[in-house]
Amino acid sequence: MDDLFSTETNERAEAARLRAELEDANYRYYVLNQPTLSDRDFDFKMKRLQALEELYPDLRTPDSPTQRVGSDLGRKANGFEQVAHRYPMLSLANSYNREEIEDWVRHLPAGVEIVAELKYDGLSISLHYEKGRLVRALTRGDGVQGDDVLRNIRTIQSIPSYVQGLPDYYEIRGEVLLPWEAFERLNREREEQEEPLFANPRNAASGTLKLLNPAEVARRGLTCRLYHVLGENLTGRTHTERLEQARLWGFPVSEKMQVCRSVDEVMAFIERWDTGRKNLPVATDGIVLKVNDIAAQQELGFTAKTPRWAIAYKFPAEKQLTVLRQISYQVGRTGVVTPVANLDPVQLSGTIVQRATLHNEDFVRQLGIRDGDKVWVEKGGEIIPKITGKEETGEQQATGVYQFITHCPECGTMLVRVEGEAAWRCPNENGCPPQQKGKLEHFVSRKAMNIDGLGEETIDLLWQKNLVRNIADLYDLKESDLSGLEGFGQKSAQRIISGIEASKQVPWERVLFAIGIRMVGETTAKKIARRFRSLQELQWASVEQLTAVEDVGEQIARNIVSFFEREDNLNMLLRLQQAGLQFTAEETTGQPISNELEGQTIVISGVFQKHSRDEYKALIERHGGKNAGSVSKKTSFILAGENMGPEKRKKADQLGVPLVEEDAFLQRIGIIN
Ligand code: IVH
Repeated sequence: MDDLFSTETNERAEAARLRAELEDANYRYYVLNQPTLSDRDFDFKMKRLQALEELYPDLRTPDSPTQRVGSDLGRKANGFEQVAHRYPMLSLANSYNREEIEDWVRHLPAGVEIVAELKYDGLSISLHYEKGRLVRALTRGDGVQGDDVLRNIRTIQSIPSYVQGLPDYYEIRGEVLLPWEAFERLNREREEQEEPLFANPRNAASGTLKLLNPAEVARRGLTCRLYHVLGENLTGRTHTERLEQARLWGFPVSEKMQVCRSVDEVMAFIERWDTGRKNLPVATDGIVLKVNDIAAQQELGFTAKTPRWAIAYKFPAEKQLTVLRQISYQVGRTGVVTPVANLDPVQLSGTIVQRATLHNEDFVRQLGIRDGDKVWVEKGGEIIPKITGKEETGEQQATGVYQFITHCPECGTMLVRVEGEAAWRCPNENGCPPQQKGKLEHFVSRKAMNIDGLGEETIDLLWQKNLVRNIADLYDLKESDLSGLEGFGQKSAQRIISGIEASKQVPWERVLFAIGIRMVGETTAKKIARRFRSLQELQWASVEQLTAVEDVGEQIARNIVSFFEREDNLNMLLRLQQAGLQFTAEETTGQPISNELEGQTIVISGVFQKHSRDEYKALIERHGGKNAGSVSKKTSFILAGENMGPEKRKKADQLGVPLVEEDAFLQRIGIIN
């Protein structure tokens, strides 16, 4: 009984884990355009969750990822109107081998025609035509409603804005794509601008379609392939007839289609295009099989998420066998040491691969690989190739357990393995070159101090010339230090110096982000800076005080405390302070923050721990409230510190005015949890 019970508990826990993982993966894929799971891993996890939900049907709630299509809907304020789909926009069931295709065909009425098409790897779009005119272009969204991205779709020249002869209402769906060439150009530009690269053309197309500036969209060069017609009073008894008609009307209909009458014909189509697709200008990730006859389609209908009359087949990720020459080690900006596989160069999905990340020590151990082994390299939906296994050659293999290096390859410091993490890290934060350079790059970056003219290359140069070693050194730079450097004229030197000068006005919250305390990102820094209004206050904060701030957990709090325990950091901060950086929040008479206190009149009384009385006055105003000097019937509450005046207390008691303590008040306006 015990055993059974624990199996059920484990399986339910596994389902909960899978659910969270799939939800997160959907969000990263559709909204952030930064996929973390490969399609294949995603599908396997989804299938496992489906199986668990079969076992425990109470888990199959309507909001389970098994019951919903992933959503690309941006947050409400993304600048696009959300519009309901006239026909839900569904996804397709996936298959990976002949057996799964045979299984699907077995469930179709005997003798139906099957259309095989390419599966384009972009994002789906639904174009609405009313009286021949293109009036809306909706993304899939959550399948029920999507974002109307018409102004960006208009940049795609092959999509007609007006078509004569269309039915009154006509809808045609397809895929928006960024051709390989445009994708590579865009990534080259992004690399130069030091912006994060898109992992694949699909993510690039998706990011592009959600841009607010159509001129930039037009510049990037989207294209499109259409493959599904909907609407009323359509002519054409079959899917192919309807698409042929659409082609005659001038729509960019997908060309590579074939009507098949057996699984063998389907498999031959798959085989042809698994190689043929490498010469196409756009990305494809499989083929789609559809029942051709519309009446038969209607007969078959839909499941909650997918039509029964269509199925996708996903091409296997491209794989190559090559030799692992050597494992080398790379030290990142945060000191994490990553093992890297150096390979004999191989051609993979159109590019030459000679390096692949090995993530961490555990990953290398699991693969059981050593220098000289034959290994499989794969390139899935992600741009970074990965090693997926090794080929047993029967030859003498290295023995013993793989050992990670013990010392930093950059500075020789002994590595530490952080508890609970798979990573080894070099602890020499302020003396290890890539970490020091990383800190400098982060400090000058757009979201931090935004210092014009200082990018990765310039920092490298300043480093080589021994001009800067840490962020405080930047403020000692003189124009003459720079103007003599290779590739620098007086103008560019001036630009940098004035950029550095201007950074002295960057507000405290961004300075806090810029100094690079581990795990203190942009948003966390903002929240901390709102609570700790100056460096002095923050410097003496305890772990308990810090964890009271929203989003600050134990680990971040400890990172902050230990940052201020280091003498080298304190010296650096002192130099920055002397240089004139903003280490105190601007007086809080600025912009409104919320309307949490709207319509409330508040009296402040007593002595406070966390902010001065003036700061509280300003906070009240910035959250929409009014300050008053004395207690009356109109007083909504008293913000009560220690040693509150006896007169005020008496009056409050008489009038029944509530007292709100400091922490409760900060909670109310959302500064602490
Ligand atoms: S038909 C109701 N045909 O693949 C089914 N979809 O993984 C309508 N896709 O959401 C879709 N090429 O974005 C269809 N030739 C093709 C396709 C295709 C790519 C996309 C589409 C769909 C996704 C499902």
